[in-house]
Amino acid sequence: MTARIIDGKAFAAKVRAQVALQVATLTQEHGITPGLAVVLVGEDPASQVYVRNKGKQTKECGMASFEHKLDADTSEEALLSLIARLNADPAVHGILVQLPLPGHLNEDLVINAIAPEKDVDGFHISNVGLLATGQKAMVPCTPLGCLMMLREELGSLAGLNAVVVGRSNIVGKPMAQLLLRDSCTVTIAHSRTRDIEAVCREADILVAAVGRPQMVTGDWVKPGATVIDVGINRIEKDGGGTRLVGDVDFASAAEVAGAITPVPGGVGPMTIACLLANTLTACCRVNTLPEPKGLTA
Ligand code: GUN
Repeated sequence: MTARIIDGKAFAAKVRAQVALQVATLTQEHGITPGLAVVLVGEDPASQVYVRNKGKQTKECGMASFEHKLDADTSEEALLSLIARLNADPAVHGILVQLPLPGHLNEDLVINAIAPEKDVDGFHISNVGLLATGQKAMVPCTPLGCLMMLREELGSLAGLNAVVVGRSNIVGKPMAQLLLRDSCTVTIAHSRTRDIEAVCREADILVAAVGRPQMVTGDWVKPGATVIDVGINRIEKDGGGTRLVGDVDFASAAEVAGAITPVPGGVGPMTIACLLANTLTACCRVNTLPEPKGLTA
């Protein structure tokens, strides 16, 4: 079997177009422009690229983008004071503090200082708890993007066996919660799981989010399964240079799977698209307007 390729780039463009349409309606009918504030502390090159892309795509969707670049040695007090100002600013509907933060800053403290209703990353403990108890939450962008692709690919997920490889707070755990909410039978596998290959082979839906290049090979995949690869790893190329690969060995897995996301061009583009969707959702909720259609969990 050769798997169907799930085109995350095209799907993300569709999500962004839907966001842009609903933003235009909000602005025209209610005079409200959703605003996203992104805070970057320090000069990590990868973070700078992400932040630039986020700002560009935010504006392209018709939303307001507020960028706050702080020096690497910014004090916790100064960062918390900026977050307090953004929490109180009615033009800001979403706040994202780019991670990782420099080592002297307490990430948990900083994330939990964001007003939960503006926490478009879904990392605040209130949102984690709301998601876990099946209540209306802000949902982390990468798992939300994966869920949207799975629903598009499979329709109802009810009753399917889902295995999430990886137990991070950012992807693995919220992904498992979302799949459970869609009535999957969910297993979280991790570095201490016994016979992880056999566990994965039971999966109708296999989500790999471990950060280990090409760990999941074709013999881990159930024939016909849908494979979602969250990994983005840079490896040395034969003959020099580097290339991006996922946590899944694409060539062997695509021989067995029914459908699979590539790296790059799979989950990656969906993350920013879902950040824009979450900003729109946050804006609608705070203004007690109907939730945007097709853009929430
Ligand atoms: N750094 C890498 N990915 C992310 C993300 O999704 N959110 C935040 N806040 N920081 C990140």
